[in-house]
Amino acid sequence: MDDQLAANQSNWQDRVPIHMTSRFYDVERWLSSERMPRERERAMIGDPAGKSLVQLQCHIGLETLEWARAGAQVTGVDFSPAAIDAARTLAARTGLSSRATFVCSDVYDADVALGDVTFDIVYVSIGSLGWLPDIARWAKVAANLLSAGGTLFIHDVHPFSSCLDDEGERVVYGYFEDPEHPFVSDEDSTYTDGGRLTHVRTYEWNHALGEIIQALLDEGLIIDALHEHDWTYFHQFPWLAETKGVWRTPDGRPRLPLSFTVLAHAPRVR
Ligand SMILES: C[S@@+](CC[C@H](N)C(=O)[O-])C[C@H]1O[C@@H](n2cnc3c(N)ncnc32)[C@H](O)[C@@H]1O
Repeated sequence: MDDQLAANQSNWQDRVPIHMTSRFYDVERWLSSERMPRERERAMIGDPAGKSLVQLQCHIGLETLEWARAGAQVTGVDFSPAAIDAARTLAARTGLSSRATFVCSDVYDADVALGDVTFDIVYVSIGSLGWLPDIARWAKVAANLLSAGGTLFIHDVHPFSSCLDDEGERVVYGYFEDPEHPFVSDEDSTYTDGGRLTHVRTYEWNHALGEIIQALLDEGLIIDALHEHDWTYFHQFPWLAETKGVWRTPDGRPRLPLSFTVLAHAPRVR
């Protein structure tokens, strides 16, 4: 792992204990409510019962375990040992351990780390792709993990919104992938409430929507849906208004793309 990914890994290690006790993730309520996967995602992905699913960059495993609760045999991959430990603990506390495996690996090595097995569903959720310097290399790993006919689902931060300043008012960062010039940040806080980070330096990269789609096409995947949304799952800009856990553009403001969804599948014969 290079120095930039190693710095990101240390930063994510610091975030795990903060996230586990944050109101943002509200793990105790998540446990007691037996939350299921988001309705919108279930409608797009279909019934996961009896299917195998891998979540790339699963963090503390909440979303991964929701898919297990819905009947999938799940695997979560993340490069933070603390996140993987937390996910395993939550799997035990939910009684889902027999249906959930968590593996500590850099996502770029996930196909090898998982022993070259393939999955019916590859699932990627918000806050993932921006941590990766090279989207084409990532798409190769995602495609390698898909079974013939398998489904790839991505819902992530829209790359246009990553070009804006913290106020969401001005374009200050580049739209296109530029591995040599990451967004460098030295913030001692995370996106949740709670404590301070020790390892503050992070490196992030933008990928244009066209670059993401082309990377999937170059791996032979078939694109079934591409949606851009004027809403997201976190308080990305001060002017967003929350309704039922979703942050939306209020009336009277220009509607900008804040997140996007891609649904794709691998050819039935590979
Ligand atoms: C915001 S979480 C995404 C999961 C989920 N949507 C959530 O919000 O909890 C991002 C995750 O990406 C992981 N990550 C970042 N870079 C990675 C890499 N190169 N390989 C594997 N995991 C990585 C971090 O450890 C973190 O757990």
